[in-house]
Amino acid sequence: MNEWINEVWKKLDKKLSAEAVRNRDKIPYTTVDGVYNNMSRDDVTWWTNGFWPGLMWLMYKGTGNGEYKKTAEKGEELLDAAFDEYEKLHHDVGFMWHLSSGVNYRITGNRKSFLRNINAANILAGRYNPCGEFIRSWNGDDNKGWVIIDSMMNIPLLYWASEVSDDPRYKYIAIKHADKVMTTHLRGDGSVNHIVELDIDTGEAVQSFGGQGMREGSSWSRGQSWAVYGYVLSYIHTGNERYLDAAKRVAHYFISCVADTGYIPQSDFRAPKEPVIIDTTAGAIAACGLIEIANNVPEFEKDMYLNAAIKILKALEENYCDWKEETDSILQMGTEAYPRERGRHIPIIYGDYFFTEAIYKLKGFDMLFW
Ligand code: GLY
Repeated sequence: MNEWINEVWKKLDKKLSAEAVRNRDKIPYTTVDGVYNNMSRDDVTWWTNGFWPGLMWLMYKGTGNGEYKKTAEKGEELLDAAFDEYEKLHHDVGFMWHLSSGVNYRITGNRKSFLRNINAANILAGRYNPCGEFIRSWNGDDNKGWVIIDSMMNIPLLYWASEVSDDPRYKYIAIKHADKVMTTHLRGDGSVNHIVELDIDTGEAVQSFGGQGMREGSSWSRGQSWAVYGYVLSYIHTGNERYLDAAKRVAHYFISCVADTGYIPQSDFRAPKEPVIIDTTAGAIAACGLIEIANNVPEFEKDMYLNAAIKILKALEENYCDWKEETDSILQMGTEAYPRERGRHIPIIYGDYFFTEAIYKLKGFDMLFW
């Protein structure tokens, strides 16, 4: 196993060190004919714009190669323009800044990075609805009560803000939100809703939507992954066992679904067998969550989670990784949303981010980026 991990890490470094230099002035999302596009030009407020700097920091932390650091810092600077577009920012400020500025600050102590990340935390905290006890996900008049399961990955920004400011308010918001989502999004069998509309005055669930899954009541695999990783992160930051139990419950469901399809997730676990629409990114995200569950349960519970993570990562590596140095992006066949043909079976930056983070964890590097 160690041999495989070392081999994959070497391949990651070989390809990503080449990508880091040739893509220094970009914030990539996907590729066009094997070349990264540039979201700093196309839409600097796009929710995934923190993953590229985050990926560079993972590799910097794991190798010490300063070229990664330069590219991470450049990506973070490019992202500054997003702060000028306040109306376009929403709950994904966690994804955007906690992995870029937040990680920079934690590695280097950079003051400017601290300010960016605390600004992002204040934006996220400002989205809290104290009557409904939830963080509003998106903007727009029609969805004041909408909450998406992905939000569980944005709240580590709030745990961090409480830690650095010695002010518990951010953490209290995160905990209220995590508790609410546990009652509204997690189903009894371990599957989760993607979007739930909550009453803005009482916080009661009004209705759920399929969102990026097939339809209402289905099971969007990336949503399950956000829940597995998001809840174990809330456990790590708070020590509340109910979050670890929630992460385990969704993990059990996730593992039983992927065991049926060679450890490669379908984009929606409740979709018909045909057409086959897979989402490799869901596998990479879940693997990170499963590794963290394994790190946080007693010794005799670990194997189920760790072995499942390794099976998923091996299946991704064997079938869907492009290791050619001359093309951009590693993990292929990510899917944005089950219902849309556009954005289906493409490389997506967070696929590479989470695949790399999982291997970084397995290598034993211990700085948690979230
Ligand atoms: N957070 C949006 C997505 O996972 O596509």
